[in-house]
Amino acid sequence: MASKSRISPLFIIFIAISPFAFLGHGEFDDYSGVIPSEPVDIMSPAPTPEPVRSRDQRRISPLVPAMFIFGDSLFDNGNNNKLHSLARADYYPYGIDFEGGKSTGRFSNGYTMVDEIASQLGLPLVPAHTEAAGDKIRHGVNFASAAAGILDNTGRNFLGRIPFNQQLNHFEGSLRQFAQILGEDDTPQILSKSIFFVGMGSNDYLNNYLMPNYNTRHLYNAKQFADLLIKQYTQQLTRLYNLGARKFIVVGLGELGCIPTMLARNETGGCLTDVNNLVLPFSMKSRKMIFNLSASLPNSKFTYIDTLALNKALNQNPQASGFTVTKEACCGIGRNKGQITCLPFQTPCSNRSQYVFWDAFHPTEAANKLFAGRAFNGDKDVAYPLNIKQLVKL
Ligand SMILES: *[C@@H]1O[C@H](CO)[C@@H](O)[C@H](O)[C@H]1NC(C)=O
Ligand SMILES: *[C@@H]1O[C@H](CO)[C@@H](O)[C@H](O)[C@H]1NC(C)=O
Ligand SMILES: *[C@@H]1O[C@H](CO)[C@@H](O)[C@H](O)[C@H]1NC(C)=O
Repeated sequence: MASKSRISPLFIIFIAISPFAFLGHGEFDDYSGVIPSEPVDIMSPAPTPEPVRSRDQRRISPLVPAMFIFGDSLFDNGNNNKLHSLARADYYPYGIDFEGGKSTGRFSNGYTMVDEIASQLGLPLVPAHTEAAGDKIRHGVNFASAAAGILDNTGRNFLGRIPFNQQLNHFEGSLRQFAQILGEDDTPQILSKSIFFVGMGSNDYLNNYLMPNYNTRHLYNAKQFADLLIKQYTQQLTRLYNLGARKFIVVGLGELGCIPTMLARNETGGCLTDVNNLVLPFSMKSRKMIFNLSASLPNSKFTYIDTLALNKALNQNPQASGFTVTKEACCGIGRNKGQITCLPFQTPCSNRSQYVFWDAFHPTEAANKLFAGRAFNGDKDVAYPLNIKQLVKL
């Protein structure tokens, strides 16, 4: 057991940003019942495996020329490593199951969801923007950054991070490089066939609205805040379209009230209902946003990955997918191993493929692979209106 003084800097940070003192006052709009709670049996039986499944197997020829990734810590693969940031994962035991056991900056024991999607698309792992130079960018670039949000000031408690607007600036900046590698004339066509994967929003709740040192919750109710986010998100996705993107995958928010850091705050061990209800309007409007955007932007195609539906299905029958531990992080400290997230050199659980959560906030590689597989092959309940396999064929 680490002595208190050794862990104190991180300890203090995680205590200092604990946001939940105000919860349970009933100040959120009640959205329970907006989403049908009918069990959706989408986790079993398992789908027929795709020909290309993992890093261990021979690569098929890519189904798309490239994938560009924008998002937060669920998708970051090292962009924060060189920032003065508290949102970093470039230390053991992060990456313990990654190639060579390497701590790359991924917030996972191994693959993230986009790693698995890249693999299923027949692409090499997409390089982080910080490492993408020369020919390496041929198959895309990952611009995602832990603690980043749709709103620029989201995640500022973590200091360094690259908000979505800045990720878009980075993409715009790399277009010239891209044209040099692929040829000026071919680039627009190649971009139009490439996948643009976007997963933002979690931090606008976890590291903005729910933080005591932010005033957003005094200014907006749940619905108004969702409107604010969706308005900005719509503009950001439109900007991406104007820069050449045509095929979009937009990943929705999961059950934020059910991640270990939240579970640790409920005496009875259940999900925090208020947190789940808080994010519901954003999830509902995200779907509508996709619909609106595909109608208003010529030749655009959008796929919405309904992480909420994926989470619910998994929680209803975790055993069907091989999970036995759904409420406790594999690496972390305190109740649900969710009160303090995975610390440097902490020993993680050994049976990691049975855990849904790797740390207080992020899924394991096993869960990421499951979600990616459903996004790739799943039906309209989880990938709307098209799954990734259908999207790439258009
Ligand atoms: C705690 O969990 C229970 C279910 O076990 C749930 O009914 C209750 O609403 C939760 N409490 C809060 C504050 O969310
Ligand atoms: C979708 O478009 C309609 C009609 O323009 C608009 O009223 C609505 O606010 C839009 N919704 C979202 C979530 O973008
Ligand atoms: C896996 O971890 C859980 C939780 O610690 C434990 O209950 C279970 O016995 C472990 N299984 C194996 C095979 O080690």
